[in-house]
Amino acid sequence: MSLSYSLVQGAYIVAGLLFILALSGLSKHETARQGNRFGVLGMSIALVVTILAATSGLSVAGLELSAGSGAKGLAFIIPAVAIGGAIGIWRARSVEMTGMPELIAILHSFVGLAAVLVGWNSSYESSPYPKVHDVEVFVGVFIGAVTFTGSIVAYLKLSAKIKSAPLMLPGRNLLNLGAIGAFVVMTIAYLTLDSTFARQSLLGLMTLVALLLGWHLVASIGGGDMPVVVSMLNSYSGWAAAAAGFLLGNDLLIITGALVGSSGAYLSYIMCRAMNRSFISVIAGGFGVEGGTSAGEGDYGEHREIQPEGVAALLTEARDVVITPGYGMATAQAQYAVADLTRKLRERGVNVRFGIHPVAGRLPGHMNVLLAEAKVPYDIVLEMDEINDDFPETDVVLVIGANDTVNPAAIDEPGSPIAGMPVLHVWEAKDVIVFKRSMATGYAGVQNPLFFKENTSMLFGDARARVDDILAAL
Ligand code: TAP
Repeated sequence: MSLSYSLVQGAYIVAGLLFILALSGLSKHETARQGNRFGVLGMSIALVVTILAATSGLSVAGLELSAGSGAKGLAFIIPAVAIGGAIGIWRARSVEMTGMPELIAILHSFVGLAAVLVGWNSSYESSPYPKVHDVEVFVGVFIGAVTFTGSIVAYLKLSAKIKSAPLMLPGRNLLNLGAIGAFVVMTIAYLTLDSTFARQSLLGLMTLVALLLGWHLVASIGGGDMPVVVSMLNSYSGWAAAAAGFLLGNDLLIITGALVGSSGAYLSYIMCRAMNRSFISVIAGGFGVEGGTSAGEGDYGEHREIQPEGVAALLTEARDVVITPGYGMATAQAQYAVADLTRKLRERGVNVRFGIHPVAGRLPGHMNVLLAEAKVPYDIVLEMDEINDDFPETDVVLVIGANDTVNPAAIDEPGSPIAGMPVLHVWEAKDVIVFKRSMATGYAGVQNPLFFKENTSMLFGDARARVDDILAAL
């Protein structure tokens, strides 16, 4: 089937609109599924139209096959799409919810790598506007390479294959600034060079500098700032795709890349606000020490323990209960048991609500996804700002596998590595029950004075098993 240029552009506009509807749908729980459907439909249209356009000899797709070579082109494209699609479906179906952050990080690295390859390929092509084209090549390869290595380091940190402690090289900010300065100088030099060998050598050198910059940028960011890094790389991958769109002359890729880039940048802003950090201080790195599991240094006294029967007794008396889940709920896969407990308590007339910290878990919206999966009603799942003033009137708070996000040291200890980060004020409730397996620290490696407060009791063990025990005792 052969397509006309205007039909392709029309289809691209429809796909672009579907992507905008997808983003708007994904911004609320209730419409997230519909948003996903719009995204899938938009991407299907984009793929089919791009392939058909390429095989029709149109240059909109960046695949300028002559009309006669269409069948030959399809012989390459269809197997590539089939293999890539099959791997994607297999990974998406097999990934554990706890493995999502690192899967997303590695997927970002593919976008970066694709932008580098497109840029290099494009550097061998001629253009009617050679200077503009040269700048596009340099910018595309630079953003792509930074995204590529940055995402690989993020993947290694999120999957705990390397330590999340920040790499503190001397003069690290100067190194970053130096790399950006070198990029600008090399871009200007590239515009003035004529020899192909000299141009390709300079492009190679710039690619190396960008790869090192991406690696260093993320390596020097501490565990506490990883939420911002995830959204920042999301944004970079969008701009890398947009840069590839310019090089390929593909309008839809430019639109899609800009949508991902700007929504990722906005998400980074939201994350920075949630952590009370400026974007610059995140890039400067060093916030949050070891992603450790050992107990901290501070001497806060003795902690108290409670058994599931004791928690059941407290819940039987309670009228207002708030549940604040964290990463431990995800690792324990406790969301279904928590949803059952919520149902049971609500049937008994208890007012049960959830308080969700913006960086709870390891992924923006991590807890919301888990609770939605377990069919917890959306209207009882509140953001931190919506629930923080209600803790003094709360009878029992169940802290299920959360740690850093409920740590009062962020407020009380100015010297703490997480000082200034807004947290859930769970300690203001009458009773606080903390579900975890030991006294180990959370992701930022900071000891939590909450565990030693008079109104706090520790319920040790796997969160899912302990919630099941409480359900049995109720
Ligand atoms: P964390 O501070 O990570 O603490 C989770 C706690 O869950 C741990 O202290 C652990 O204690 C407990 N736990 C683990 N497995 C458990 C199980 N099976 N049963 C019961 N408890 C279990 O959690 P948080 O409060 O959600 O904070 C999130 C942290 O991750 C923040 O520092 C945030 O900055 C960072 N981070 C967030 C993101 C995003 S975007 N959300 C991305 C990267 C990093 P035990 O080992 O003693 O059980």
